[in-house]
Amino acid sequence: MIPQSFIQDLLNRVDIVDVIERHVPLKKAGTNYSACCPFHSEKTPSFTVSPAKQFYHCFGCGAHGSAVGFMMEYGGLNFIEAVNDLADRVGMQVPQQQPESRPGMAASGGQSTGNSSQDLFEVMNTATRFYREQLKHSESAIAYLKKRGLTGETAARFAIGYAPAGWQNLAAVFPDYQARMPTDPLVEAGLVIENDDGKRYDRFRDRIMFPILNQKGMIVGFGGRVLEQGEPKYLNSPETPLFEKGRELYNLFGARKAIREAGRVVVVEGYMDVVALSQHGIDYAVAALGTATTPYHVQKLLRQTDDVVFCFDGDNAGRKAAWRALENSLAQLVDGKSLSFLFLPEGEDPDSYVRKSGKEAFEGLLSQALPLSVFLFKELSAHTDLQTSEGRAKLVQEAKPLLAQVTAPTLALMLLKRLAELSGTSQGELENLLQIRRVSSSPSPRPRAPRPQPASPYRWLLQVLLHDPGYASKLERELLRGRSEYAEEMAAVVALVEFIDTCPHMAEGTAIPSVITYFHDSPHRALLEKAESETLAWDGSIDLEAEFSGALARLREIQRKQRMTELHSKSLSALTPEEKQEYQRLMAS
Ligand code: UTP
Ligand code: MN
Repeated sequence: MIPQSFIQDLLNRVDIVDVIERHVPLKKAGTNYSACCPFHSEKTPSFTVSPAKQFYHCFGCGAHGSAVGFMMEYGGLNFIEAVNDLADRVGMQVPQQQPESRPGMAASGGQSTGNSSQDLFEVMNTATRFYREQLKHSESAIAYLKKRGLTGETAARFAIGYAPAGWQNLAAVFPDYQARMPTDPLVEAGLVIENDDGKRYDRFRDRIMFPILNQKGMIVGFGGRVLEQGEPKYLNSPETPLFEKGRELYNLFGARKAIREAGRVVVVEGYMDVVALSQHGIDYAVAALGTATTPYHVQKLLRQTDDVVFCFDGDNAGRKAAWRALENSLAQLVDGKSLSFLFLPEGEDPDSYVRKSGKEAFEGLLSQALPLSVFLFKELSAHTDLQTSEGRAKLVQEAKPLLAQVTAPTLALMLLKRLAELSGTSQGELENLLQIRRVSSSPSPRPRAPRPQPASPYRWLLQVLLHDPGYASKLERELLRGRSEYAEEMAAVVALVEFIDTCPHMAEGTAIPSVITYFHDSPHRALLEKAESETLAWDGSIDLEAEFSGALARLREIQRKQRMTELHSKSLSALTPEEKQEYQRLMAS
């Protein structure tokens, strides 16, 4: 935990233009800077850096963030590393915050122990060396890998090792294994488990070890497979300060170059699939680590390449996993990029398939993968009878929440057209039915005056609050209650206001660079990023006060109408005298 106030100071001290310029040549464009986006390939620059507001935004792929965000996305660092990196540059010392201890509670324990990432990485490296060394001496482990068709060269390339049977083998390389402090790096890195009696033992025993590297090539975790039978088949490192399962992809670091060269990435389910594909010349495969594909994974992959193929087993479980991946991808889709789904023949996984049929055959399958749009409607229509009105209505209802997540304008339009076709409606009818708000198809980097007003007053508020968090203190909180057709935007405003409330400096109205730094893992992140990017063109001439009161007026109007409808729906005789008065007042205003 790094104190928020420190991050604010840090962001005030570093200049995002300097930070980005080291990696990406920037050109001055008005008050901002622009460049071709480092996160997707493009010929005309749509990547914009605002020195005034200290954030970057790409109008092409939606990449967005502060200086910290840039170091995370571009440098592949985690939050703590990015903060450390920036602090080093400006000579600031990152404070170590102790976990809060309440009166009456023992002050020991707590997860955060003050081990630096450096300590943890060192422990991981030492363990990896040890496991690799052990593999050389284990006949059974070597025999197992041979049986699975792995060559020594491949095993070495993936730094595969072996954790021997026995409880305290790591003591051989960590001499103070037992005597260490209760919260040392061995435990925090997830290599060693401490039981209630304070006894320590190795987490990984008698397993083939697959080191997991982060995007910078540092070892952050392990997957360990039993040699033959046993539960669990794969034991993975727990979540640690270095390792967040939902963010890492096995082999993304190793595959980077191959992904660029091939122009695509294939996402498979298992460690062994990645390794076997690589041995057969397909080096652009990665795998999620025993979790479903997360939106974060998809975003990460789409920043590396324009073509992502998900590969699943042909069985029921595979189709389910594919559907999960599809659901988690919709909000990440970007026009001009392609996501597709490949289902292997029943009983095969990429490992077995490539060993049997070879590289060409596998790549042949890849080229026949189903585009996301096809898979989407195929699955939806599979369990509805499109011959009947009821069936077509069901299709529309099921498609509605899915389509609503797609913000890529062209793709959203194509999906809508396809749904219209399948359901026998017109596109206009569907738009009404789905209450789809039209998204402008090409956001221009520099919108001209008069500023287009967002459809949702909450969106408008978001813009104002992001531009100047000081307005949070002037906002009547009652306006953020009740049901709204803009529920998502309202929730984002609530979250933002709650956050600003916790930051005294912000409420005072000092300019704060990119508040969004704090919303990295928030469900509101995408929306906040968009709203913030919409303020890019705001300069000194913007009348913030007018923007703020404009948004408030719209909100009040919405609430007035809602309340009137509510009262209206009661019969006149059921209204209390107060309600009658209220109704008349609302009518008059
Ligand atoms: P699979 O069960 O499909 O195994 O798990 P696999 O990859 O084909 O493994 P082999 O070929 O039998 O060695 C797919 C992935 O799911 C995660 C692992 O990441 C695995 O690679 N998994 C599976 C776990 O994390 N734990 C488990 O117990 C099983
Ligand atoms: Mn397998």
